[in-house]
Amino acid sequence: MTSTMTEPKSTTRSTATTGAILVTGAGGEMGHALLKHLHGQWGGQREIVSIDLRELHGEAAAASTHSYCGSVADAEFVQALASKHDIGEVWHLAALLSSSGERNPELALSVNVMGSCTLLKLAAESARRRGHDVPFMFPSTIAAYGVESLAAKVAAGVVSEDECGDPITMYGLNKRAVEEMGRYYMRHYRLLDADRGTARVDFRSIRFPGIISADTVPMGGTSDYGPEMLHAAAQGKPYSCFVRPDAQISFMTMPDAVRALVHLAQAPRSRLSRQVYNVTAFAPTAAQIEAKVREFFPRAEISYAPVEARQRIVDSWPMDLDDSAARRDWGWSPVHGFDEAFRDYLVPAVRARYG
Ligand code: SER
Repeated sequence: MTSTMTEPKSTTRSTATTGAILVTGAGGEMGHALLKHLHGQWGGQREIVSIDLRELHGEAAAASTHSYCGSVADAEFVQALASKHDIGEVWHLAALLSSSGERNPELALSVNVMGSCTLLKLAAESARRRGHDVPFMFPSTIAAYGVESLAAKVAAGVVSEDECGDPITMYGLNKRAVEEMGRYYMRHYRLLDADRGTARVDFRSIRFPGIISADTVPMGGTSDYGPEMLHAAAQGKPYSCFVRPDAQISFMTMPDAVRALVHLAQAPRSRLSRQVYNVTAFAPTAAQIEAKVREFFPRAEISYAPVEARQRIVDSWPMDLDDSAARRDWGWSPVHGFDEAFRDYLVPAVRARYG
């Protein structure tokens, strides 16, 4: 795979001793929101280096000190980038989502697992060179869970981190593998190397539910029916939902998702009893999302045409997540419940966006 390195027109800002912040998947849904946050927090004080397959534009480009076009699956490209920048922190968001991953499982494996492995190694070597731990933030997913059938899903109910660990999608398997590799790189990497130093990768991960953003519509996921329903209604377009009305998984808003990742990054290591945490905010059925959308867009045209394979994926994911460990260890609490999400964030923002 060839990658081109394109530098934005912005000038390089000064680098603090904490090193550059690397954001992969910077042009994706979460990337946009996270870059805005990181720029607000660090703009002018630390380099923000972003990677995406496509060139960044607008706010995302402006928030990055340097942005590069390329794939995390291209190890040479990632190594070249690491030799140019003193990476002190990694936010690794790049991934093929669950539906895209089933369309091309081997590509998903290469991007989601091998790409992550290259970045973990980069972070481990950077920690060793710098003599400081390198934080590595990794969004995992509800797809890391898996149950055999709808009956098993109903029986499982609200699922905690150590239950239902048999994902059925390549994406879910990939995320689970990276969670384990994060543990390996953090605790055991270079076990046989007498001179391996004490500075490590500080790997922290969150298993996110479906995420709904007012600014972007996701691509290639299976929880996409939630955001798609809202964005279609706001634009006056008909929407055909690819899961049944009774399909149920948990969701949260994008601002809450970014807040969660940032709070976990800021938590003192000593407070963390796990490396991977569930977070959630609300767990509506597709029919409940439809009803909520209709409260604000009464003329919405929403119908159902379930696609068996995608329904099967949603049926394998828990209907709700137990996030008590995150609440206890680092004070996680969502700002947006189901009602607040639509009333205070999603609906005003999509109305402003689409007119
Ligand atoms: N949103 C993801 C997907 O649907 C789940 O984490 O693939």
